[in-house]
Amino acid sequence: MLDLFADSQPWQEPLAPGATILRRFAFSAAQRLMLDIDAVASRSPFRQMVTPGGYTMSVAMTNCGQLGWTTDRRGYVYSSIDPLTGHAWPPFPASFVELCRRAATAAGYTDFQPDACLINRYAPGAKLSLHQDKDEPDLRAPIVSVSLGLPAIFQFGGLKRSDPLKRLMLEHGDVVVWGGESRLFYHGIQPLKDGLHPLTGNCRYNLTFRQAGKKE
Ligand code: SIN
Ligand code: FE2
Repeated sequence: MLDLFADSQPWQEPLAPGATILRRFAFSAAQRLMLDIDAVASRSPFRQMVTPGGYTMSVAMTNCGQLGWTTDRRGYVYSSIDPLTGHAWPPFPASFVELCRRAATAAGYTDFQPDACLINRYAPGAKLSLHQDKDEPDLRAPIVSVSLGLPAIFQFGGLKRSDPLKRLMLEHGDVVVWGGESRLFYHGIQPLKDGLHPLTGNCRYNLTFRQAGKKE
């Protein structure tokens, strides 16, 4: 298939105060990132987590880094141990560290030191309801979110759930960075449409880098 964007340079689109979309920023790293996602998942497999309310999430998730986002009966927690395997989460692949640092810097966050990466896998129909990323103790650190594979509609609102939503398509290689004033803005992913992507098949993957521990 002829990809008209394969050779084009990434470009930036402002999204909200403190938030930027780096279009196609991860395009050239995508193949390496996918191999490394597979390597992480061979040690800490994708699983559909169950929320404290008993709801099985449609998105399949795993993590890498010092901490991983997970659920237990008490709620949403960051844990250094994968509850499925009983072992530490796999460390960050070098490709993740490099891409995340470049993206944070390009968006103006020069000192971002993530210690957690949530890896989301969306099959057709999977969605992520509107939520805030608020389980991290230090909200000065931004969120860096990398989209791979099938396109999805991302909703980005404000500090209140009822604030108006922007709806924008995130495509293969797009990176969204949000922090500062928009760090706690509500966001979500609408149900994934069926499709076939040359690198990821009928899935969309998303990497979300966070600083989930306290920086000394
Ligand atoms: C998330 O909010 O954790 C993921 C967003 C996305 O999949 O783009
Ligand atoms: Fe989120």
